[in-house]
Amino acid sequence: MKGLILSGGHGTRLRPITHTSAKQLVPVANKPILFYGIEALRDAGIFDIGIIVGDTKEEIKKACGDGSRWEVKLTYIEQLKPLGLAHAVLTAQNFLQDSDFIMYLGDNVIKGGVKDFVEEFKHQKPTAQILLVKVPNPEQFGVAELSQQKVIRLVEKPKQPKSDLALVGVYLFNSAIFKAAKSIDYSQRGELEITDALQWLIDHGFDVRSHIIKGWWKDTGKLEDMLEANRMMCDELETKILGVVDEKSKIEFKVVIEKGAEIKNSIIRGPSIIGAHTKIIDSYVGPFTAISENCEIQGSEIEHSIVLEGSRISQIRNRISDSLIGKNVEIIGNERRIKNHQFMVGDSSRIELI
Ligand code: G1P
Repeated sequence: MKGLILSGGHGTRLRPITHTSAKQLVPVANKPILFYGIEALRDAGIFDIGIIVGDTKEEIKKACGDGSRWEVKLTYIEQLKPLGLAHAVLTAQNFLQDSDFIMYLGDNVIKGGVKDFVEEFKHQKPTAQILLVKVPNPEQFGVAELSQQKVIRLVEKPKQPKSDLALVGVYLFNSAIFKAAKSIDYSQRGELEITDALQWLIDHGFDVRSHIIKGWWKDTGKLEDMLEANRMMCDELETKILGVVDEKSKIEFKVVIEKGAEIKNSIIRGPSIIGAHTKIIDSYVGPFTAISENCEIQGSEIEHSIVLEGSRISQIRNRISDSLIGKNVEIIGNERRIKNHQFMVGDSSRIELI
């Protein structure tokens, strides 16, 4: 079985971060989201993986390389325009040939991976297998209607959803999907929808099976989803202190401090992670915070946030929370106290609070 990970798209809901960076490379618990997908496939015994790339292809290639770091083989497949998930499948036909495959959306994170799901497909050999999850906002997803546990209808982002069962961004297919993808029309949003290709399979009597998952899953398209994924993955961390912590600092609960990091006169309360060569000085880092490498937090308080590499936060007297701060950002404050700060700041920005 082969793997197909989708890592194109524009990531409009995460702008301005995605003006300069691929959404799949935003880290949760200091690891790019895309890497969780690659690891999930590898752990399910899938080693031959195609990655669909678009405008951000160079950045994705640079981050993932040839896959040898995970002992998988990565093949990059360029999709010239983001014309939908079924279009991506057709774009990858040369790579997939007539192999069964798992398609995994590169901005999805599934706790517990996909191994059981893959095993079940290998065993039962349906035409397609989908995962469903109950969500409070089904109109933002592909939605399934079931009758006696069988999927009878799948609709992409319906205004009036017939159920609260959303399609998770992980699908298993045999090669019948190519015929389905070639038979459907572009949707109103101008895409060849995988949801419509699945509906075509159902309408033509193919065996499409579904599975309702109880565990945690997230499509990290928006800031709050990204922070939730970060909470979930920070919570999986085990304490590991490779950097230097001075005697005036306190490390509480599950905290990872990477090599070369320095903690001086500060409190780090986990679950949280401090990247390599990052300095935390006279500061408080609260739960569910992931600070990437080569950052500096000085005289500030931050919690429930993600800070990307090379950023500097200094003298911010009130607590920063619920924030996603890009690469090489500078946020510099002074002595005056302002009530609360929430930031969604793109790469290479500078904010001065005076
Ligand atoms: C895509 C699919 C949708 C699915 C979702 C899961 O939506 O079209 O059916 O529920 O992924 O992440 P998109 O991210 O393209 O809006």
